[in-house]
Amino acid sequence: MKRAVENLLETAGRALSELGDDPKALDRARVRFLGRKGELAQLFKQLGQVDEQDRREAGRVLNEAKAELEALFLKALDKNRDLAAAERPTIDVSVPGRRPPRGRLHPITQTAAEICRIFNWLGFETVEGPEIELDYYNFEALNIPKDHPARDMQDTFYISEDVVLRTHTSPLQVRTMEKRTPPVRVIAPGRTYRRDSDVTHTPMFHQVEGLMVGKGISFGDLKGILTTFVHQMFGQNVALRFRPSFFPFTEPSAEVDIECVMCRGKGCRVCKGTGWLEILGSGMVDPQVYTYVGYDPEEITGFAFGMGIERIAMLKYGIDDLRLFFENDLRFLQQF
Ligand code: DAH
Repeated sequence: MKRAVENLLETAGRALSELGDDPKALDRARVRFLGRKGELAQLFKQLGQVDEQDRREAGRVLNEAKAELEALFLKALDKNRDLAAAERPTIDVSVPGRRPPRGRLHPITQTAAEICRIFNWLGFETVEGPEIELDYYNFEALNIPKDHPARDMQDTFYISEDVVLRTHTSPLQVRTMEKRTPPVRVIAPGRTYRRDSDVTHTPMFHQVEGLMVGKGISFGDLKGILTTFVHQMFGQNVALRFRPSFFPFTEPSAEVDIECVMCRGKGCRVCKGTGWLEILGSGMVDPQVYTYVGYDPEEITGFAFGMGIERIAMLKYGIDDLRLFFENDLRFLQQF
């Protein structure tokens, strides 16, 4: 029996050393030596035939051999595992997953949407138009002829003599009235361009244009609609005022100021001590503009307004640097 055990241990040791690192071969060897019908089990079976006085000793030898074999196989298994682990990339399944970052709308997009939402609620339909625009729509039909000094105010990007990057969204007034018969109520957001670049100006910026024309529309309607808008956008208690102004395509014209959102009208650096902040231009559509679109100025009246979206967003969210909108710094954008 002792000889048989020694033989078995020797064969097993050799078999293991010739195994290589194939895990299946290791398993086959384990079954061969340690399995329920394996070679060791056969020896255990023979224990019954051993002479009574030697049986105890034989049993001890067999049990020792079993422990030794098991230790051998465990070692081989460990070695196999280490090899396999070294080959495959380590994945720690207990590490919490990384959340995919969720995108959101840019604050300018959000502000434009909010402005449009308020005017949609007031019955204005959202329309859009081209950013590359004919001089005719950007200037001419808005009562700004070629030699008009107002063109200087607008630092235009010219693509050719007749084609410009639109300097404002006001061409949408003309394009809309050309296509539709009154009454018309539209709101038109979009990109606009001017050759201007400093701390408070970017060559591309955003505006929203509004237009409401039909029979019997008065300056009172202008005041009512724009007052409602300001209260919806900035809060019911925000004071506003209409200040006389001039635009070639409106007569009379007014700019709207709101009470400074920073100092509540007391006067501060942001409002330059006046307590007021200008937020939009407006006015009654100049009769001259109606003649370009085939409306009868004797019959049709109405008003228009335009505002810079960046400016509205800055006032609404208390942002003091225009450039933040264009730098795409996630630390800034994620706050909205
Ligand atoms: N288009 C003007 C600008 O860019 C803003 C404006 C003023 C639009 C008065 C209007 C308006 O429709 O009536 O500064």
